[in-house]
Amino acid sequence: MHIHALRAVPATALLTAVFLAACGGESPDTSGESSPATPAAPAELTAVELEQGIGPVRDLQLAAIDPALVGEGEAAFTTKCSACHKLDERYVGPPLRDVTDRRRPEFVMNMILNAAEMVERHPEIRGMLADYFTPMPVQVTDRDEARAILEYLRQAQAEANQGG
Ligand code: HEC
Repeated sequence: MHIHALRAVPATALLTAVFLAACGGESPDTSGESSPATPAAPAELTAVELEQGIGPVRDLQLAAIDPALVGEGEAAFTTKCSACHKLDERYVGPPLRDVTDRRRPEFVMNMILNAAEMVERHPEIRGMLADYFTPMPVQVTDRDEARAILEYLRQAQAEANQGG
């Protein structure tokens, strides 16, 4: 029972040190901007976050592909995504033609709208970062624009399914 008692001391000391370090990390008078401390490990995600991604989009109801929306999405994709993504080849980021097969539509939109948090916290996107080395930036903050890009990607996948 001696061993048990001896082990308890360093464990308590360590917890105290961590607690003090966490409390001491706040230095409100160094600058005007607030930068939230980055957690050492990402907090666990819910099952819904794992599947639909982390962000504002949940439980989309998708209708048949809307050609006008595809057109809008293609224009936005060309301007804001094509510097890093091609449909069929790896580039700075992964090829995206099959992304709507591999991911839920909510996941795609949340990646577009909330890439920074997805890169930080979603285990599969963190895994991709380890492969691609570039954290995807947020290029789109407008939900309708993200929705249009999703429609373009749905169309790109549909064409592959028809052609293949
Ligand atoms: C600066 C380069 C860059 C830009 C611009 C960019 N991405 Fe990405 N994207 C990446 C990288 C790299 C990844 C892989 C994850 C990572 O490393 O952040 C990625 C991942 C993704 C994923 C996840 C793919 C999967 O298999 O789950 C989607 C979806 C995506 N990007 C869509 C887009 C869309 C749509 C745009 C335009 C609005 C865009 N990206 C703009 C670099 C970029």
